[in-house]
Amino acid sequence: MLDSEAMDQIKVAASQLASASSLAVITGAGISAESGIPTFRGEGGLWRKFRAEDLATPEAFRRDPNLVWEWYDWRRQICARALPNAAHEALALLESRMPSFLLITQNVDGLHQRAGSKRILEIHGNIWKARCTACKTKFEISETPLPSLPVLCPDCGSLARPHIVWFGESYDESLIQEAVSFLRQCDVLLVIGTSGMVSMPGFLTEQAFRAQRIELNPEPSGITPLVQISIRAKAAEAMPLFWERLNAG
Ligand code: APR
Repeated sequence: MLDSEAMDQIKVAASQLASASSLAVITGAGISAESGIPTFRGEGGLWRKFRAEDLATPEAFRRDPNLVWEWYDWRRQICARALPNAAHEALALLESRMPSFLLITQNVDGLHQRAGSKRILEIHGNIWKARCTACKTKFEISETPLPSLPVLCPDCGSLARPHIVWFGESYDESLIQEAVSFLRQCDVLLVIGTSGMVSMPGFLTEQAFRAQRIELNPEPSGITPLVQISIRAKAAEAMPLFWERLNAG
């Protein structure tokens, strides 16, 4: 149950959105937490004795591609069992209602697509895709668990890697440029479930300098100082209420 302050903030945010024509959304691991996918920096974020920072790196992959593929296969199995939650679904409904909409996600779990969102920029890649380290072919890997590890390229047989942006790697500049262009003209920006511990969501939030910037996170984050409204609530609780308020007019 949300407290009265969060309820009031949702009312204000919904009224701002009602008069907006362009909505940008940035999501992080927190939006998938209520689907059972552990966040990176929460108590469930550790895997065995490893941390994401120790495994999701080019060095870790060079050192032990099998271990990195094992970690991703473990995460894929959790993602495969997970279902989109009410927050993912509310975003898909919002997209259908807004004249102009863009969802920028750091998540690689594919839950936004499964909830029906269409206009998505996956700036950290997608756990259901792999790419060849030699010929760069990109291909879907939907089977879980993976039949054999490490994954090999279906075209040239070389070692393939997860199609994920690892620590120390650069983003796809074309995706970031598309996100920045949209953010600079949007009326409202909604940032859901990111700690802002990596710099990109903070940088993107700052690009929406003319927008009403709203955060949805049960905890304060690195994004909180960058927004006008920070709602202390869980995504799957607050987003359906946000949608209801918006439709209540
Ligand atoms: N609803 C909304 N937010 C939530 C919820 C929830 N139910 N539960 C947790 N959160 C918030 C936490 O308070 C935290 O601020 O989600 C945030 C999760 O933060 P991180 O685990 O740091 O995830 P994220 O910000 O997405 O990490 C960014 O860092 O590790 C890399 O590539 C990885 O994409 C990831 C990136």
